[in-house]
Formats: sequence, C-alpha cells, structure tokens
Amino acid sequence: MVQDKSTNVTWHDGLVSCDERASLLEQKGVTLWFTGLSGSGKSTIAVALERRLMDQGKLSYRLDGDNIRLGINKNLGFSADDRTENIRRIGEISKLFCDVGILTLASFISPYRDDRDHVRQLHEASDFSFVEIFVDCALSSAEERDPKGLYKKARAGEIKNFTGIDDPYEVPNNPEIHLRSDVLSLDQEVDAIMAFLQHNKFVV
Ligand code: ADX
Repeated sequence: MVQDKSTNVTWHDGLVSCDERASLLEQKGVTLWFTGLSGSGKSTIAVALERRLMDQGKLSYRLDGDNIRLGINKNLGFSADDRTENIRRIGEISKLFCDVGILTLASFISPYRDDRDHVRQLHEASDFSFVEIFVDCALSSAEERDPKGLYKKARAGEIKNFTGIDDPYEVPNNPEIHLRSDVLSLDQEVDAIMAFLQHNKFVV
C-alpha cells in the first residue's frame, strides 16, 4: 500500500471535458495492458499495433517497461515492492492518457495479479476501459529467443529476481485477450487485437 504523503490537496476541474477531447480526436481513450514474461513479445506487438492504428488514423501511444524504467521509474528496481510501485505509477499515467483520449498501449511484465487488478480498478472507478492482454509464451520459448541476453545472465546467476527464473509470474485469470505468442504470427496477433477493438467500438 502506498502511503499518502500529500495532504490538503483537492482535485481541480477544468473547463474542457474528457468527452470534448474524445470528440475532437474522434476516438475514446482506452488502456490496452500487455502482460507476460520478458521476451514474450509484448513490446513487439505494441509496436506493430501502434503502426497499424496510426495507418488507420488512430492516435495511440506506447508505454514500455524498459523505456519507462530509463526515465520516470529509473529509481525503481525489481523487488516485489518496486515492481508494485512501477505498475502503480504506470497505471496512473495510463489513466491520464485515457483522459486525453489516447489508445494507450502499456507493455510491462507486471507479474503480480493484485497490481494489474489495482490498475483495472483505478480505470474502472473513473469509467475508463482497461483491456488486459495476456501475451502467453512458454518460458522455454522466451528463453530461447532471449532478445536481450538476460535469461542467459539470470541462469548464470548474474541477475537476481528475474521473472520466470527465480521470481514469480502470476498468469491472468480472465484476460480480455489471450494471445499465444509462441504459436501466432505477429500479424495474427495484431489482427486479433484490432478485431477486439472494432467489435467493442474502441475503434470505428
Ligand atoms: S515489471 O515486472 O516491473 O513489470 P518491467 O516490464 O517494468 O517489469 O521491466 C521488465 C524489463 O526489465 C525486462 O524486459 C528486462 O529487459 C528488464 N529486467 C532487468 N532485470 C529484470 C528482472 N530481474 N526481472 C525482469 N525483467 C528485468
């Protein structure tokens, strides 16, 4: 639980509503939350989806684990508490992006169910949609890909608390979208997400 250190603060409303921004952009904000092991393909799918959406005239923006940890979250490591704080901050940022009217693509391992559920609740409490996308990949496949050479280092004991090796990953119980990234092609994955977005009128 985060300790509230900010006291005597009050929310200040503006003169422009979320609905007005949505009309201006001709789209409604939503958070697409990609969760899965390192190397499962979360960022790759988000990159391809962002391109596809732009080609269709839709504004999206990627929030990516490594990128965010190079900036706003550079003071966080990989202990359970730090991962929780990482996800909490990203959850708040995603919510702000939704308020702007952006299709927000958040790709984080986010290994703990409670942390992801917290982000969902945060969105739903403000009437924003949260779509959990489980990028499901066998550990053996992620380890075989090892795009950053981190599994090799973790196996060698050079990285501690590495998700899937000596740190847990809690699979989503009820994700809105479940992609087997070790079975599907990238195009099939993007097609599946686009179909979901169209079916649920997030994209028209
Ligand atoms: S999360 O668990 O807090 O959601 P996040 O998605 O931000 O993780 O960052 C994961 C990225 O950090 C991985 O893709 C990998 O490049 C890098 N990384 C470095 N150390 C670890 C570790 N111990 N466990 C997992 N990923 C790590």
